[in-house]
Amino acid sequence: MRVVFLGPPGAGKGTQAKRLAAHEGIPQISTGDIIREAIRSGSELGKEFKGYSERGELVPDELVVRLVAARLDQPDCKMGFILDGFPRTVPQAKALEQLLDERRMPLSAVIFFDVSDDEVVHRLSGRRTCTKCARIFHVEMEPYKGGPCAQGGQCDVVQRADDKAEVVAERLRVYREQTAPLVAYYQAQGKLTRLDGGKSQNDVETALNRVVT
Ligand code: AP5
Repeated sequence: MRVVFLGPPGAGKGTQAKRLAAHEGIPQISTGDIIREAIRSGSELGKEFKGYSERGELVPDELVVRLVAARLDQPDCKMGFILDGFPRTVPQAKALEQLLDERRMPLSAVIFFDVSDDEVVHRLSGRRTCTKCARIFHVEMEPYKGGPCAQGGQCDVVQRADDKAEVVAERLRVYREQTAPLVAYYQAQGKLTRLDGGKSQNDVETALNRVVT
């Protein structure tokens, strides 16, 4: 299984990628997570990423493509992978095609999680992430904090810096301008499956499993 998860910020790509990755025993490759990890590490690359991420802009294509190329060469990608949040521009999609051709690893599907802007704003304003087990919560989930953590003890939740209202608005603008054209791009290649991402997490998971497994 080699799939791309496409959709606006907050569409549920990460939530569903974690579930599918655990079920299939394949890695979730989230460029957002890789970028946040580089920022946390304080590396030179991380310092470069920080401004883009905090403003809600995309980091330059060539940097992300290099990160993904290195990740695809890890042995755990041999059995498949879920690309979560990559590609996000047409040049990234073209670069991915080349990377996969060179490695003889054709894509099996591109899943587009379709969610309204209002739902995106609601989800992202309430999103919290556990700093220990990386589980994603929404403040309306019970219990969203202090519940048992997979890493032991209780979950310790924080809000992402780019989930503040003004940054979310910019991320949506950037999505419409640079990422949404990929829907038509993959549709023209006959690879795109559209899912109603506005349904409950379990309903989205059921629909996803029907398509990819
Ligand atoms: P990234 O981390 O990829 O952010 P994103 O695409 O904006 O996606 P999110 O992680 O915000 O949302 P998601 O769709 O994963 O939703 P989630 O499952 O968490 O990227 C961050 C930044 O990194 C970018 O802005 C950019 O700067 C940089 N970057 C990353 N990739 C890049 C690339 N390829 N090129 C250039 N720059 C790049 O769910 C959201 C919330 O909703 C949670 O609270 C969850 O509990 C809840 N939820 C999930 N599903 C449901 C449901 N069905 N019903 C109700 N609630 C739900």
